[in-house]
Amino acid sequence: MTIKQIKVGFDNFSYIIFCEKTRKASIVDPSYNPSELLEFILSNNLKLEYIIATHYHGDHTSGIQKIKNSISSSKIVASELDSPKLGIKVDIKVSDHNRLKLGSIDLDFILTPGHTPGGICIIVDDKALLTGDTLFIGDCGRTDLPGGNITQMFKTLIEKIMPLPDHLIVYPGHDYGDKPFDTLGNQKRTNKTLLAKTLIEFSKIP
Ligand SMILES: [Fe+2]
Repeated sequence: MTIKQIKVGFDNFSYIIFCEKTRKASIVDPSYNPSELLEFILSNNLKLEYIIATHYHGDHTSGIQKIKNSISSSKIVASELDSPKLGIKVDIKVSDHNRLKLGSIDLDFILTPGHTPGGICIIVDDKALLTGDTLFIGDCGRTDLPGGNITQMFKTLIEKIMPLPDHLIVYPGHDYGDKPFDTLGNQKRTNKTLLAKTLIEFSKIP
């Protein structure tokens, strides 16, 4: 399993996940760089299976349609809840703990509301955790944008993120931290938003 992290625009990250054996690939959060992502897929002889949106915001989705138009056999994947706001036809709508196979890779989707009602994180083969705008290195996603909810975000971090294993590598949707990725264990020890014990404490974080 390989995960390629690609910085795009000012501080967004897109990802390409692929299975070396079957060459099956997924693109996660394509936005301003569809041509670069397509070039990577074609030049590495990959077969694009899924185009996945972690949530509906344009800086994670604006490249989806161009990629779908180029590789029409690929399937657009988003959460059931965020799909209506995507403005494009979603082929596979996922709910909490739905799984998809990507060659020999397991993609396990977790519903993580807070930044948007249907935001999802993706566990890749019990090794990586793609967090979209739910969790960044050193911070969490904003809850003051349309669809955001601070109570839901706190619940997501406590109930959905904290119980996950420390060895997972967190790959966020933006490059906001002091490093582009980190172990979840290290984030549990250092990320101020994961250290808050109560909603009141959480709501006071600047
Ligand atoms: Fe966002």
